[in-house]
Amino acid sequence: MKILVAVGARPNFMKAAPILNSISRHNLSVLGLSPRPDEDAPSDVIQPLLVHTGQHYSELMSEAFFDDLKLPKPDVLLGVGSGSHALQTAEIMKRFEEVLLCERPDVVIVVGDVNSTLACALVTAKISFNANGDRPLIAHVEAGLRSFDRSMPEEVNRILTDHVCDLLFVTEESGVHNLRREGIPEEKIHLVGNTMIDSLLAFKDNAEASTILERLGLRHGDGQFSGHWAAPYALLTLHRPANVDHSVAFSSILDGLQELAAESVILFPVHPRTHKRIQEMGLQQQFQTRQSQNNAGTKRGIRLIEPLGYLDFLCLMKNARLVITDSGGIQEETTCLGIPCVTVRENTERPVTISHGTNVLAGVKTEGIRKAIREQLGSKPRAAVPEGWDGKTAPRILGAICRALGKRNMVLAGAGR
Ligand code: UD1
Repeated sequence: MKILVAVGARPNFMKAAPILNSISRHNLSVLGLSPRPDEDAPSDVIQPLLVHTGQHYSELMSEAFFDDLKLPKPDVLLGVGSGSHALQTAEIMKRFEEVLLCERPDVVIVVGDVNSTLACALVTAKISFNANGDRPLIAHVEAGLRSFDRSMPEEVNRILTDHVCDLLFVTEESGVHNLRREGIPEEKIHLVGNTMIDSLLAFKDNAEASTILERLGLRHGDGQFSGHWAAPYALLTLHRPANVDHSVAFSSILDGLQELAAESVILFPVHPRTHKRIQEMGLQQQFQTRQSQNNAGTKRGIRLIEPLGYLDFLCLMKNARLVITDSGGIQEETTCLGIPCVTVRENTERPVTISHGTNVLAGVKTEGIRKAIREQLGSKPRAAVPEGWDGKTAPRILGAICRALGKRNMVLAGAGR
């Protein structure tokens, strides 16, 4: 059995890693090198094939994550790089089709909602290996999420991907309702939990060994901040085109952060897209930090830093007093860690992080952001972890894939193929 896992951009890597890990553990058990986790598991060795489209290619956006997550080197690198949505998607499709025809996997797994996700799913849905039209089963990990905002490229990617896939692995209850509403057959929908949280739980303790707080001067070995305690700071990420590509929108968000920046340092690991926009718009002066009066050695203001690897960022999230973001995954990670989160968007495709978790939606206007920050800092965070976010999602997914493939092979054998 050959399972191809397609990844391309930063948020894909932590969602795919637990699945590859689960395949390795399955193979060890088949070879008798570890106990069988599940009596129903197939007795075949699974051949994994990791394909990286190269949508993200910088060391800090890609390789650093492979190292931190202990991901194997990709078997195939498509090297597509950046471009317009059409160019990037088309280039991935062209190059991925060649890989599929050569490798002929039994299953293709796509994760998340980036251009690589849609491109690989679409190619697989239309490929044909023989006159019978046989093609791999297609599984979407993180299916069913909807922001109901089609101006987001990710929303278009999510909807189209879900509608061409055979197996839809859903992270939260809302996703199941969304898929049913769109007429997706019940047998395709599997509420399994969240592989991003599998990674989070697997690496949470390792992140404690990160030296990022020391490197940023926020924690000292000499007990300046009570030994193990870091100086209080907030953490910020912004990269959505709607938030950073237009100066009025971007400035309105930065204005909403000023009150917090006047009393605390806000660490801002800058995504390459955002970095470009800051240069183009001449916004550098917004990011000057000042020495704090209260804590010698710490600063106030918004402090720009380079994009961080997985473990360094996880360490910063765990120790932050507040996280402010427009990312999807960070809303989930902060919910799981019990860290208050302010999401700088009008909507979220992850409503469970609000109903159960620590997230609030602030919108994108100055006053709303200021108010949400004040409220989050003044309240005790709720810390209910959503159902199935238990670190065991990847084995559930692998089990469901093996069962679906077994069923399909029986049908094909019955038809004399
Ligand atoms: C993509 C995803 C988004 C995800 C984000 C996480 C889509 C539609 N968007 O957005 O959902 O949240 O990744 O980071 O797939 N660049 C580099 N180095 C890199 C990659 C990109 O410098 O390794 C620069 C390029 O100049 C590029 C820009 O960043 O033009 C944007 O990259 P792109 O892949 O187009 O989209 P993201 O904004 O990263």
